[in-house]
Amino acid sequence: MAHRWTNTLTHKDVTPQAHFMNRRQLMAGAASGVALAGIGAGAQAEEALEPNPWEDITQYNNFYEFGTGKSDPATYAGALTTDPWTVAIDGLVEKPGDYSFKDIMAEMTVEERIYRFRCVEAWSMVIPWNGFELADLLALAGVMPEGKYVRFETLYRPEEMVGQKYRTIDWPYVEGLRMDEALHPLTIMATGIYGKTIPNQNGAPLRLVVPWKYGFKSIKSIVRITVTEDQPVNTWQALQASEYGFYANVNPTVDHPRWSQATERKVGGGLFSKRVPTLMFNGYEEEVASLYEGMDLTVNY
Ligand code: MTE
Repeated sequence: MAHRWTNTLTHKDVTPQAHFMNRRQLMAGAASGVALAGIGAGAQAEEALEPNPWEDITQYNNFYEFGTGKSDPATYAGALTTDPWTVAIDGLVEKPGDYSFKDIMAEMTVEERIYRFRCVEAWSMVIPWNGFELADLLALAGVMPEGKYVRFETLYRPEEMVGQKYRTIDWPYVEGLRMDEALHPLTIMATGIYGKTIPNQNGAPLRLVVPWKYGFKSIKSIVRITVTEDQPVNTWQALQASEYGFYANVNPTVDHPRWSQATERKVGGGLFSKRVPTLMFNGYEEEVASLYEGMDLTVNY
């Protein structure tokens, strides 16, 4: 099911946060097909998603450029300068170059997407992103037919990113997608949350969101996008290939070597936060399973 989502909500159309917290209005939104646009049919049938509050989403983060603690990004990411911001788009594209964030935004249609977000560490949230389809950005640069993969790179600026003073990772953070994954309509570049500019700790000014994959694929504060012929080596695979692969599709039947992936802890439930079953492809099976037909997902983890 590779249709394009037809809604074109902009920031000013996004339902205010209070509405999200009201379950009845959320259900009404689902009926009108507006508020929950972007969630797969399967997910809608199951239950309307209740987004986590702003505080969960912006104070419990992974962004090693600012430290490895969950509250480090909220504490230290304020130091990051996000304006001006330039994204280099290069490799196998018709129009390689430095694209300013402002120029990109002038060309893109920002929509709201309420997605499940599942970290490989087995915690999860529901996040109301604002963003545009990665496919539209790639179209701006014009992907050449030989382009098979997309490689993404985060900013390297140790004077503003305190965590980069330590060699926890071989900076810059790198991620990659196969071209069909990159062009899939569920794959977005997020620029906002709850209709507000995306906070630095969540990856300002633009970060990838691939809702059927573990959170580490959703690379933050992107400065380079390269279309390649060969499969990129992503940061976590380079760090520990026996535990983290290239595909990183959410899969409750393939455990991490050190913990089960069958269930997840929903962030926000306090000390006794609920554990719930993890869904195949994070609940987006209907939309994306066909991308992996014939592939052994225990090998391509
Ligand atoms: N991107 C960069 N550049 N650096 C990181 O450390 N962490 C990843 C991903 N993107 C990370 C990153 C991981 S492990 C997760 S789970 C998500 O960001 C967390 O996104 P969130 O903090 O917005 O929930």
